Amino acid sequence: MDFIKLQQAAIDAAFFSYAPYSCFHVGAAVLCEDGSIFSGCNVENRSYGLTICAERSAVSAAIGCGKKDFIAVAVFCRDSEYPVPPCGACRQVLSEFCSADASVFYSGKDRNFSITSMGELYPADSLHDLKGK
Ligand code: THU
Repeated sequence: MDFIKLQQAAIDAAFFSYAPYSCFHVGAAVLCEDGSIFSGCNVENRSYGLTICAERSAVSAAIGCGKKDFIAVAVFCRDSEYPVPPCGACRQVLSEFCSADASVFYSGKDRNFSITSMGELYPADSLHDLKGK
């Protein structure tokens, strides 16, 4: 399990962040069960509500390549004094593709990653199944 590589992918992705409004440059990466890593950054918009978080960019990159089972996630913000975990909306989106024991690493500018799990960030998840309805 290459968590260092995953964290570095999140750090690298933050370089491409488009965040002229918040100046909060975030990168994220997901580690797929086959060992592949996909990354993304936040993409802001002058219509603020259209902003896409780094986590959801990374998820979209993976899904677009046919990968949909993530065993770990890393988030890095190069402008924060404190570690930055996924926002509520991203927790919901990540929960679609991560099991409760998936590791979530998150860091501020010091690159000192804290670790938690998907289950801790998003407990009592509703695993409702809409198939066939
Ligand atoms: N942001 C992320 O990309 N991921 C997070 O986990 C926290 C917030 C972005 C959204 C927005 O572009 C900026 O950071 C400020 O909230």
